[in-house]
Amino acid sequence: MSLTFSLTRNVAPASAERIAEIHADPGFGVYFTDHMAVATWRQGSGWADDAVVPYGPFQLDPSTAVLHYAQEVFEGLKAYRHADGSIWLFRPERNAERLMASARRLMLPELPVDDFLTSIEQLVKVDAAWVPDAGGGEASLYLRPFMFANESFLGVRAAQRVTYAVIASPVGPYFSGGVQPVNIWVTDQYSRAGKGGTGAAKCGGNYASSLIAQYEGVDHGCSQVLFADAGTGVNAEELGGMNLMVVTADGQLITPELSGTILAGVTRDSILTVAADLGLNPVARPITLAEIFDRIDSGDIVEAFACGTAAVLTPVAAFRSHQGNHVIGDQPGERTMQIRSAILDVQYGRAEDSHGWLRRVV
Ligand code: COI
Repeated sequence: MSLTFSLTRNVAPASAERIAEIHADPGFGVYFTDHMAVATWRQGSGWADDAVVPYGPFQLDPSTAVLHYAQEVFEGLKAYRHADGSIWLFRPERNAERLMASARRLMLPELPVDDFLTSIEQLVKVDAAWVPDAGGGEASLYLRPFMFANESFLGVRAAQRVTYAVIASPVGPYFSGGVQPVNIWVTDQYSRAGKGGTGAAKCGGNYASSLIAQYEGVDHGCSQVLFADAGTGVNAEELGGMNLMVVTADGQLITPELSGTILAGVTRDSILTVAADLGLNPVARPITLAEIFDRIDSGDIVEAFACGTAAVLTPVAAFRSHQGNHVIGDQPGERTMQIRSAILDVQYGRAEDSHGWLRRVV
């Protein structure tokens, strides 16, 4: 039976003034709306207790499995307000399918696509006032669905009770500088994902394990870290929290192929499609760090960018490593900005949705 996520309203919601104050300077993932969606899965009986309820803390027993063994997966997507006031999601079915795939990898239960969509839509409807106007920028309501092992038990096995929830946060750009190009640290010490590991799953553990390399990068003036493949250390794979793409002088858009260790980004996939619409030649293939650096140095790779739901497209200024720096430039590339606008224009209803990617909520 389908879940309905019926509403128990927050009796003390934020005032319109408070929401306006937050919208004026939302940051990223700092403020949360009045409600959240929740559901519980129990072995034997499946999903139940689905509801949209007032936003608030979970009470967890100290022995709750997720706190010990990190059996957890999550998603990230956004709700966009169009100029006419309507609110839309961008390819949310993709997030639903990816959550199912991540859940399978982490031995968590699958939440059917329709139930995922209902949870998101019910939450966005009740908290519609929290969806900011795009204004001149790229403000949106970031939605964070997640699922975790919520069983008090220290044995190492798949949990028999699991919580699914969706929280929502009005956001501006992920990087505080907006579209200012960022430096990327290329770690030669740490790996993100190995063959047969969880690299293709969106699970918290991948992000936790990236932090040490991320901070190594911060120490070298970088905002993100680039990981090579764990086997050979030769191929470029993924950034700490987003995918990587480069643009060549002859119009190729190259990104590491989905090898099982890379997250299948919804933004990544959308960019590959949009790039072809814009006359670029999108190519997903193995690409070595050496190729990227040599071709930057020879002027043959002219642009690079990070991409993801949170970051949209963020230009790369330079790659830095213990072996040296490879500088692209401190101005956003023309192709990067063209693709960025094309994606944002669809998301905000300023361009025709020719691929049928939008889904109206309000
Ligand atoms: C996203 O782009 O939605 C991400 O998940 C990246 C990061 C905020 C974890």
